[in-house]
Amino acid sequence: MSVLNGKKILLGVSGGIAAYKTASLVRLFIKAGAEIQVIMTPASKDFVTPLTLSTLSKNPVHSSFFNQEDENEKWNNHVELGLWADLMIIAPATANTMSKMANGTCDNLLIAAYLSAKCPVYFAPAMDLDMYKHPSTLASFSLLKQFGNTIIPAESGELASGLSGEGRMAEPENIIAFLEADLESKLPLKGKKFLITAGPTYEAIDPVRFIGNHSSGKMGFDIASEAANLGASVVLVAGPTNCKVTNTSVKVISVTSAQEMYDACHEYFSNVDVAIAAAAVADYRPKTVALQKIKKASEDFTIELEKTKDILLSLGEIKEKQFLIGFALETENEIENAKLKIQKKNLDLIVLNSLQDKGAGFGGGTNKVTFIDKAFTVEPMELKTKEAVATDILNKVIKHFHE
Ligand code: CTP
Repeated sequence: MSVLNGKKILLGVSGGIAAYKTASLVRLFIKAGAEIQVIMTPASKDFVTPLTLSTLSKNPVHSSFFNQEDENEKWNNHVELGLWADLMIIAPATANTMSKMANGTCDNLLIAAYLSAKCPVYFAPAMDLDMYKHPSTLASFSLLKQFGNTIIPAESGELASGLSGEGRMAEPENIIAFLEADLESKLPLKGKKFLITAGPTYEAIDPVRFIGNHSSGKMGFDIASEAANLGASVVLVAGPTNCKVTNTSVKVISVTSAQEMYDACHEYFSNVDVAIAAAAVADYRPKTVALQKIKKASEDFTIELEKTKDILLSLGEIKEKQFLIGFALETENEIENAKLKIQKKNLDLIVLNSLQDKGAGFGGGTNKVTFIDKAFTVEPMELKTKEAVATDILNKVIKHFHE
């Protein structure tokens, strides 16, 4: 999945021949899963029509401060557009538009939105080779870089003037690749390796029966997806579950029993930076597993159970640099029990679910958790979707690595 997926992108088109390439650029953004709004300078409409870009972007194109199409919304709000965007790109960026950006010459909607935008701004220059090297152009580049904007360098080749050299706007495919690489390199968990457990475990009684629990696996899968979206590479050791993950940075190891989960975790743990135990591992398993299906011969039937290995505890024992997070599900003395668990299992953070809280725990799409760190700082959170809880957990990890 592209890092551009779900991103809100504001594309500013200024008036150069390369504007015709923005039709492909908009298509590629849409293909990558981005939401896109386009602002055109008046001059750019000579090179590509607003109808083309509006159709491809699936949004009205903005061009002037005055909105002729909507009676109720006469004013095109440049501040709103600027603040809406996760990322703004000016492509093509002509010498004229870059000079206006550099000097704050706010005589069109594109520049007004640029001056209002708080998001990262990229610009892809396009002009003839001598213009590209002119000290005035170089001064604009330098100022824009000082403002924190990122240049997507022009490419070499045949130019509209008939001359050949540097100045062609980067090809749309290359602009997308540039943005993806740049955004990926800035992801907060880039280069971090995660081990996450999820779902229930099934402990066999005989070839057809098992002891299990109602864990859906959703919490662990949401953490895995979000960690991968933030740049991490993830090994997700999952018990039997219907959950799916689409991000290719998540390697799913499917297991059934607590012992299999234990073995898989120990295979990967030494190599990871973060381990999160979100699985609802069975605490006990049948002492012996019948080789044949057990017949209903007697009125009473007893299964002798033995403890499974505590995976999280075992990871805490061998932990070196790893940031180790566990979950706890408590019904009484929640905070005290959770604190004891932090010490016993040598955790850095515990995510406490209380069964006293409505909407917490197994099954549903929401969770209400309390974070407790190893310094015993207690932080109760609101009831949230499991995706939002996953984000909160990962923010704790990010904070740990950036402290
Ligand atoms: N855990 C584990 N392996 C087990 C049991 C639990 O890795 N065999 C992990 C779970 O994934 C979870 C945490 O340990 O992160 C839960 O701790 P646990 O001691 O099992 O607490 P509770 O489930 O809350 O139950 P109890 O208090 O009865 O121990």
